[in-house]
Amino acid sequence: MGFKKCHLLAALPFFLLCSLILNNGVEASHHVHEDLQSISAENVKDLHRTGYHFQPTKHWINDPNGPMYFNGVYHLFYQYNPKGAVWGNIVWAHSVSKDLINWERLEPAIFPSKSFDQYGCWSGSATILPGNKPVILYSGIIDKNNTQVQNYAVPENVSDPYLHKWIKPDNNPLIVADKHVNKTAFRDPTTAWLGKDGQWRITLGSRKNDKGVSLLYKSKNFINWTKSKKPLHSLAGTGNWECPDFFPVSIQGTKELDTSVIEGDIKHVMKISLDATRYDYYTLGTYDTKKDKYIPDKGMVDGWNGLRYDYGNFYASKSFFDPSKNRRILWGWANESDPVHDDVKKGWAGIQLIPRTIVLDPNHKQLLQWPVEELETLRGKKVELINKKLDKGERVEIEGIPAAQADVEVTFSFNSLEKAEPFDPSWDRYDAQKLCSQKGSSVQGGLGPFGLLTLASEKLEEYTPVFFRIFKDQEQKHVVLMCSDASRSSLEDKKGMYKPSSAGFVDVDINDKKLSLRSLIDHSVVESFGAKGKTCITSRVYPTIATYDNAHLYAFNNGTETVEIESLNAWSMNKPQLMNH
Ligand SMILES: *[C@@H]1O[C@H](CO)[C@@H](O)[C@H](O)[C@H]1NC(C)=O
Ligand SMILES: *[C@@H]1O[C@H](CO)[C@@H](O)[C@H](O)[C@H]1NC(C)=O
Ligand SMILES: *[C@@H]1O[C@H](CO)[C@@H](O)[C@H](O)[C@H]1NC(C)=O
Ligand SMILES: *[C@@H]1O[C@H](CO)[C@@H](O)[C@H](O)[C@H]1NC(C)=O
Ligand SMILES: *[C@@H]1O[C@H](CO)[C@@H](O)[C@H](O)[C@H]1NC(C)=O
Ligand SMILES: *[C@@H]1O[C@H](CO)[C@@H](O)[C@H](O)[C@H]1NC(C)=O
Repeated sequence: MGFKKCHLLAALPFFLLCSLILNNGVEASHHVHEDLQSISAENVKDLHRTGYHFQPTKHWINDPNGPMYFNGVYHLFYQYNPKGAVWGNIVWAHSVSKDLINWERLEPAIFPSKSFDQYGCWSGSATILPGNKPVILYSGIIDKNNTQVQNYAVPENVSDPYLHKWIKPDNNPLIVADKHVNKTAFRDPTTAWLGKDGQWRITLGSRKNDKGVSLLYKSKNFINWTKSKKPLHSLAGTGNWECPDFFPVSIQGTKELDTSVIEGDIKHVMKISLDATRYDYYTLGTYDTKKDKYIPDKGMVDGWNGLRYDYGNFYASKSFFDPSKNRRILWGWANESDPVHDDVKKGWAGIQLIPRTIVLDPNHKQLLQWPVEELETLRGKKVELINKKLDKGERVEIEGIPAAQADVEVTFSFNSLEKAEPFDPSWDRYDAQKLCSQKGSSVQGGLGPFGLLTLASEKLEEYTPVFFRIFKDQEQKHVVLMCSDASRSSLEDKKGMYKPSSAGFVDVDINDKKLSLRSLIDHSVVESFGAKGKTCITSRVYPTIATYDNAHLYAFNNGTETVEIESLNAWSMNKPQLMNH
């Protein structure tokens, strides 16, 4: 992934779109701060650092790269600036773990050193070839003009349990852009999958003018690659595609699958990271192996209005198949939401979110995401509440655990759907964020808003509410809005601070009159999973009062319909023993 300036005045249609989006309050591509990218952190500030999320001891991180499980070890590589807390000087940092919780930092695995990557080693993926041979494909930057090529790297010693050292053979680059391809938008190769013709395939992100494209390349030997005439997928008006991910999900949902499983009782997922809005969008569909094309299912919305893995700070994600537990695991990067100069002062920026398992929703219309089960080993003290009624305006404090570093699971129930507010037909069915910014937790409603107040100060000068609000549309169908609202998260309100009312709709049947929510709270991050992982939202927040022991956790209801906390379990979260990043 790369960082460019967004030239708003350029006359291309994409950039007009880009400026439109900006007007809606969502920022496009990041800026490059050459003056700041090599300022080494003198003092790393602890305030707002996370307790159980993956985070190096200092400096900037972005995309997760090449995640894999190999010989009993999980590997996580990630884009890292060894010299400063803003983007730049990017290498592949490398950490290993046996349980996805305790991580050990190794030396960077891939860093600029050869003509084919001397200006940068950008994102890519790992594939484990037959004979148990891991290989990494990554994007190399070869000149000051950001020209991108695809390279490979292999372990120096495949018997080394941690695969410390990686070699970049001299026959790199493997793939260069032909004259039909935009060589500065040509990056992020996926994990390869094997076709029935015995050829490996990868896809990578690109653009053709304003059309987002996922280019397809084939190879018999993993060394000589040929571009297919037609891309795997493309969509007009979406601008540059970054970090595509393409993989099967099981329809039964019991056992997930290696990326090379291309037929059977499966659907395919195509995820793209849209540079202009910086969200990860996906569709479900079919992989036509004859035409080598991905076709989204009928009714799937592709592009800006499509489903997102997460409706908050979550970008450039990548999944991998974990054969030890037959599951697919998703890693996603959460950037900071504070001004860039604050990152330089803190000495760090960026975290990896808790890895999530992904499975197909039984309705076959979306995915379900859930924190990996290993996270539960960090749970410490538990408190619980059952059958607690909350009338309009009531809130109850969840006491007895440190609220700044916790895991909370709650199920709300209600007696009737009668009081759901009408969904105004003029509202945009795809703009949950706008609706949430108008109907925040303090705007009283009928059925909702109800939910949790996370990272709250005692007098509520600061809080990050995560909540539901239920509407009824003209066809009498219920529309469930889920919000994670950072707008009151911090008394600080500096220029450049990003405090969105992040939100998504939840496609859930509420005829059982229940809604569940899980939130992972960790000092400056709140990662929430609505309705068992149907809708996920991550907020990055920087409270000034609600920090450490002064952070509180409440459940609240601000709707006229009484809501009952059917059950609530909250745990303090321990720090992993080994977090030597
Ligand atoms: C983080 O991402 C959001 C959009 O996802 C963007 O608006 C914000 O500017 C980014 N923050 C930083 C510090 O890059
Ligand atoms: C970079 O682009 C400029 C302008 O198109 C061109 O003059 C220059 O030769 C390019 N440099 C390299 C190293 O490709
Ligand atoms: C490779 O790693 C194994 C296991 O650590 C070690 O025994 C062996 O000596 C290594 N080989 C080389 C050539 O370094
Ligand atoms: C090629 O990609 C770069 C980077 O996204 C972009 O600035 C440029 O406009 C693109 N050129 C064309 C013809 O699409
Ligand atoms: C790969 O391509 C190169 C250059 O075209 C050729 O010399 C080589 O024999 C090819 N290798 C294989 C294994 O096909
Ligand atoms: C509930 O609504 C009241 C009235 O608007 C407001 O003062 C209060 O802050 C709201 N509670 C929450 C948690 O937002």
